[in-house]
Amino acid sequence: MKIGWLPGDGIGAEVLVAARIVLDKIKLDAEYISGDIGWEFWRREGDALPPRTIDLLSHVDAALFGAITSKPVCAAEEELIPALQGKDLVYRSPIVRMRQLFDLYICKRPCKAYPGNTLNFKEGIDITVFRENTEDLYAGVEFNPVPTELSKMLTALSSAYEPFEKISTETALSCKINTRKGSRRIAKAAFDFTRTCGKNSVTIVHKANVVRASDGLFLETAKEVAKNYPEITTDEANVDALCMWLLKNPLRYQVLVAPNLYGDIISDLCAQMVGGLGFACSGNIGDARAVFEPTHGSAPKYAGQNKVNPIATILAAKMMLEWLGEKEKADKVEGAVAAVILEGKIKTYDMGGNHTTMEMAKAVASKI
Ligand code: NAI
Ligand code: MG
Repeated sequence: MKIGWLPGDGIGAEVLVAARIVLDKIKLDAEYISGDIGWEFWRREGDALPPRTIDLLSHVDAALFGAITSKPVCAAEEELIPALQGKDLVYRSPIVRMRQLFDLYICKRPCKAYPGNTLNFKEGIDITVFRENTEDLYAGVEFNPVPTELSKMLTALSSAYEPFEKISTETALSCKINTRKGSRRIAKAAFDFTRTCGKNSVTIVHKANVVRASDGLFLETAKEVAKNYPEITTDEANVDALCMWLLKNPLRYQVLVAPNLYGDIISDLCAQMVGGLGFACSGNIGDARAVFEPTHGSAPKYAGQNKVNPIATILAAKMMLEWLGEKEKADKVEGAVAAVILEGKIKTYDMGGNHTTMEMAKAVASKI
């Protein structure tokens, strides 16, 4: 099988080398094909996801991705090499593009408190977040300033926000786009997962009492999907209240399903309850393709220091194995991670120790 291998920027490369130590130990029969992605390719080529990488991703069975650096609009132009400056290039997040181009509509983020992890907020937490991954406020339909025609139309159609026309040149607009199709398929993914892994509770996350149109549609659609899973207890929660309840009673939650932005935020909250970004992994999953990654970014201040925790990426590799149908290998990798955590001898800085990224990877590999 062919695996796309996308290190990206900063610590991305280090955590992928670490995951590879584990994949080699488990003897995954794979060809790893490197792909270019990230800030360096934006700087040098004006494209953070060059066409050759898109082509690569179209031909592999799955991909493992490290992390990228992204910076605000002002820096994006400034950091281009001189030959590209002034060319009116627009920076777009390569991750968001990857998710949209390959319709990777599920972002699955398991947050499990492995026994013995002294960073656990509470023992026994096992929450999987299903975050819609292609639409909502991340759809990329944004205006700053808002074009006059659009501003006039919005003023004519909406009575909710009267000063629109007056301040149109001083207004930014990001559209929150939620479709019935998008809401239905992420809800279905969450319920299917809950059913197949023997869990029995799904919480639909929204803010439909205020964001009535888009979140209303998400909630209504997810509830319709829930009817097909009578054995599963479904409830719903406003995203703000949920943040409080998650901290108060995390053991009550098993599977959370949310539109893109809320899913992004609550998955970081859940990640911190099970040890932080060093333990949080993600799968960007579509019907035909999938890209797996640690949830964290490129952590520039730790780049090149062989210091960060590779467990998030090793667990992302475990998710990739599962998706590829290599369940036995996936279980072995997770078992090895759990054993190293329980033993508590090898700890990276975030766990209160001073072992290196590679020492942690080798410790995990040694348990396989
Ligand atoms: P970050 O996730 O890169 O790092 C934040 C902090 O979390 C680090 O300073 C470190 O204390 C901790 N951390 C992260 N990964 C860790 C690991 N494996 N082990 C131990 N500790 C770890 O987020 P930050 O600093 O906000 O962003 C840095 C860059 O990464 C930015 O350019 C941002 O846009 C980008 N980013 C990229 C993401 C991706 O590639 N999927 C996701 C989030 C941010
Ligand atoms: Mg995030």
